[in-house]
Amino acid sequence: MTITVLYDNYVFRPGLSSGWGFSVLVDDRILFDTGENGSDLLRNMEALGRSPDRLEAVVISHNHWDHTGGLKEVLGAHPGLNVYIGPDTGEDLKESIITYGGSPKHTEPGMQIAENIWTTGSIKASYKGSPMPEQAMVLQKNGKTAMITGCSHPGVKHMIEEASKLFSFSPFTLLMGGFHWRDFSPQQAEDAAEELQQFHIETIVPTHCSGKPALTALKKIHKGRVLSAGSGFETEL
Ligand SMILES: [Fe+2]
Ligand SMILES: [Fe+2]
Repeated sequence: MTITVLYDNYVFRPGLSSGWGFSVLVDDRILFDTGENGSDLLRNMEALGRSPDRLEAVVISHNHWDHTGGLKEVLGAHPGLNVYIGPDTGEDLKESIITYGGSPKHTEPGMQIAENIWTTGSIKASYKGSPMPEQAMVLQKNGKTAMITGCSHPGVKHMIEEASKLFSFSPFTLLMGGFHWRDFSPQQAEDAAEELQQFHIETIVPTHCSGKPALTALKKIHKGRVLSAGSGFETEL
């Protein structure tokens, strides 16, 4: 399976656009989140030789503008796509998906989205005092497992623990996405990086809202197993 970062806070492949947000494409068929800017997202897709025509579905991690911002353009380019959202993600998001020409589908824990692709379902969290449930995507192939997160508002460690109840992580090949440690002090980031040691993750790719202290701490604690990503980053599972 090919996992491609289409849109991110950082640029990995020169010439591509970046902005606040995150969007990942799996095998040209499943889009996870849509970044903050749909026209930049579609331009990056085209520059990477990908097309929204080949998409089979969209999965939205949570109802924040930097993950839903490109929905209008994606659904405009490929009307009728199923968009998988948590049942508690918000009526406004559901209505927007319908307005943009998509078909909202509610997820549940452990639900399969497509071949080799599942969701954790909504995991409870709050953001600035309001509920902000979030789902992560789980990929499994040939005994390898990857987890891709949007912002990790429930906490990335908690999300792994919840996913571990639903899926077998043997081995835990890849953890990629936003970890939301951007307000952490260097010491807090080191402590959080230490807490991830127990999961024996082969490759960690912290990006989007993870923050610089996160990258520094993870690279120190998980030596040789942490990669920087950005728009155009690609890896295989
Ligand atoms: Fe985010
Ligand atoms: Fe968020």
